[in-house]
Amino acid sequence: MQKRIAIYPGTFDPITFGHADIIKRAASIFDTLIVATTEKSSNKQPSFALHDRIGMIESEIQRMQLTNVQVTLFSGLLVDFAEKQGVNVLIRGMRALSDFEYEFQMAYINHKLNPRIETLFIPATEQGHFISSSFVKEIARLNSELTSFVSPFVAAQLKALYHSNNIS
Ligand code: COA
Repeated sequence: MQKRIAIYPGTFDPITFGHADIIKRAASIFDTLIVATTEKSSNKQPSFALHDRIGMIESEIQRMQLTNVQVTLFSGLLVDFAEKQGVNVLIRGMRALSDFEYEFQMAYINHKLNPRIETLFIPATEQGHFISSSFVKEIARLNSELTSFVSPFVAAQLKALYHSNNIS
């Protein structure tokens, strides 16, 4: 039987418990899940370097003990990357209604660019509903408690990003 493979794309700047929840649930539906991140998306300049973002994603996968999840870098159009991998399912997390317009538009454009590609939305759990990477970075910058939003490893990376000059 053909393996069911999906791609979960994003900037993951950094990966939060919200993203981790989507990864875990998508990994339970598909034989293989490819978490795909990119150097830079059109509207964002990430705060973390690519290899740091990948390192944090890998540490989350290890923490959750998921053996069917891989992390990959892609560049260019997401649908072209998916096509090259022979994958026709993209996973996106859907949080509040405010995500809907952007996500719907992205799914529509990706489908227009390549009609073979479908986007599956996984609704965020109540806990992940209001988490975003930007908020997490703001909380870290203000040196507040991160334990409800990211893992200890990611929290340490955030502290290093914003407060490494204060250490020593
Ligand atoms: N839990 C917590 N946070 C979530 C979440 C969830 N379940 N789902 C989304 N988010 C947050 C992220 O933290 C992020 O927050 P931020 O804006 O505060 O940083 C935001 O929602 C969206 O980020 P992300 O899911 O990483 O997506 P993105 O919009 O940054 O990434 C790409 C988009 C990379 C998938 C898209 O730009 C892309 O495909 N680029 C390649 C070029 C291309 O093909 N373009 C055409 C596409 S239309």
